[in-house]
Amino acid sequence: MGRKYIFAGNWKMNHTLAECETYFKKFLALLSGSPLEDRVIVIAPPFTALYFVSKLIEGSPVELGAQNVHYEKKGAFTGEISPPMLRELGVRYVIVGHSERRHLFSESDELIAKRVRGAYEEELIPILCVGETLEERESGRTFERVDTQLREGLKYIDNLSRDRLVIAYEPVWAIGTGKNATPEQAEEVHRFIREHLQQVFGNEGAEVAILYGGSVTPENVGQLLSQPNIDGVLVGGASLDPEKFFRIVTVEVKKAESPECRLPDYSQIGDDLLDIVNRYKRIAIVGVSPKPDRPSFVVMDYLIKEGFQVLPVNPRYEEIMGIKTYPDLESIPQDLQPEVVIIFRKSSEVYPIVEKAVKVRPRVIWMQEGIENKEAKALAEKEGIKVVMNLCFKKVHQISKWKK
Ligand code: 13P
Repeated sequence: MGRKYIFAGNWKMNHTLAECETYFKKFLALLSGSPLEDRVIVIAPPFTALYFVSKLIEGSPVELGAQNVHYEKKGAFTGEISPPMLRELGVRYVIVGHSERRHLFSESDELIAKRVRGAYEEELIPILCVGETLEERESGRTFERVDTQLREGLKYIDNLSRDRLVIAYEPVWAIGTGKNATPEQAEEVHRFIREHLQQVFGNEGAEVAILYGGSVTPENVGQLLSQPNIDGVLVGGASLDPEKFFRIVTVEVKKAESPECRLPDYSQIGDDLLDIVNRYKRIAIVGVSPKPDRPSFVVMDYLIKEGFQVLPVNPRYEEIMGIKTYPDLESIPQDLQPEVVIIFRKSSEVYPIVEKAVKVRPRVIWMQEGIENKEAKALAEKEGIKVVMNLCFKKVHQISKWKK
């Protein structure tokens, strides 16, 4: 089994102890006997109820979550709760950077990044919330906003392990409004988030669970979860009612097939790939990382060992593995012009790179599998440059098998 689905209830400032008791009596009775092997259920009550709820859920499948956390272990921080205090109560998950914290309590990206670090270091699992406002969506800045929130919010995390972080995409305009994002709208952003995590943290990042939140109900949860990159939900209003939350957590999940997520059939190596191996030797890699666990590095390393002449392009480094690195494609000298340009970037960032690549006039532009940028593809093809969009490292490794 791959990742488990996560169903998290964020109770916000709701439920007294008496109400918690009534809730769990009903909720746990409903849950008993339900098959839950492929899912995790989390409830995040207010701080005042954490201890009490930890007792009520003992021996049940429900995990305990908190709604915020400070980053220091202790000290003069009136009104704050530290990571070890939450651990002591049996808390496993903690919501950080919820839009209500960002907007009603002016929490900055910097503060949120510290809270994420504090939780992570204490082995609590941060559920980092990101999402755009209506104005940001309407002015076409959704991806930019989410990208910043992810970059900033995770800047203190190194060596990420997939099971120790959760991201929740909660579009602000969908929270408590009864107006949820459509499954397609949500999937588009989830996929963008996964690409971002993969770029920053490699394979561990790509496997992080990404939840959707914002007016989730028993009626819409199935559709949302059918999307390939939606791994669970973060539920506000509907989690306050044990009956509704029960219907949400026991929903039948039918994943839609995703052509981009499906692993290619490696028994058949595509002609395109063989074509590149056979015909070209000088390859520029745009976006190559100096970290040995990143796909771009692995591909570079591999191609060098296979005898290709590799020209790494990354403005942030002068050298990678002792090889000269170019700040951009245009600065590669005329006599070293690449025949192939490999692009390791997110779909949304590909167009300006292709614009530059076209000027270098390679024979082939080779992109990561899953990159979708039709405009970029059309631009290259108009210039007579072949575009191959099947690069993934398993395929690159296949080259050596084929050559033997
Ligand atoms: P609603 O489900 O009430 O829209 O709230 C979403 C949310 O903010 C969960 O954290």
